[in-house]
Amino acid sequence: MTARDPGEVGALRVAPSILSADFGRLGACVAEVDAETDWLHVDVMDGHFVPNVSLGPPVVASLRRYSERFFDCHLMVSEPGRFLEAFARAGADGCTVHVEVGGTDALIDQMRGLGLRVGLAANPDTPFAAVEPYLARIDLLLVMTVVPGFGGQSFMGEVMDKVAAARAAIDAGRLALDLEVDGGIDPVTAPRAVAAGANVLVAGSAIFSRPDPLGAAGALRAAAAAAR
Ligand code: DX5
Ligand code: ZN
Repeated sequence: MTARDPGEVGALRVAPSILSADFGRLGACVAEVDAETDWLHVDVMDGHFVPNVSLGPPVVASLRRYSERFFDCHLMVSEPGRFLEAFARAGADGCTVHVEVGGTDALIDQMRGLGLRVGLAANPDTPFAAVEPYLARIDLLLVMTVVPGFGGQSFMGEVMDKVAAARAAIDAGRLALDLEVDGGIDPVTAPRAVAAGANVLVAGSAIFSRPDPLGAAGALRAAAAAAR
């Protein structure tokens, strides 16, 4: 399957997280927010790296019939190398693995070999130094703004120092890298993340748990754009 265009590196992007959508009508939920979706964020949890389970490649394959957007698959799993090929075959465009699981160089090589856009994630308590050595080899750095595992948690403002450090390194190195934040992002917190240097905003409950998800995504975009 051909990967969809991720768009210009560094552009402001809204990435609705389907974790907070109604899984019984997932296709309709995704279609409903399509006009305000730059990337669709797909949260994959294995019950081991995080204390929750969510979905796997069959759901990605099914969703491909409902969306032509870039699928940004966030693998909160202990052994992502076992599943990368299945996600690529299912229609993932980018995959993000966590630096905490180790074996990062090999995982980057594997993602590249599969034609995936390459993402690397860091948990809130993981220092910037843990991801810094990989910045020149990846397309996306995901700085978690909650401890991963569940939607609907509160934004951790203390992580903004790490976002700012990442933005400084990206700019200083003229690196072609997107900087994503995920967790507790809403129209109040998004401007803070954007001011610190983030350009990709993942939001689950602030979009799908609202009565008007499309309007909520638009409001998030407007609030973020005002902070650029
Ligand atoms: C957290 C996930 C997030 C989550 C965000 O483990 O990686 O993508 O869905 O949900 P909200 O926006 O509700 O914090
Ligand atoms: Zn996520």
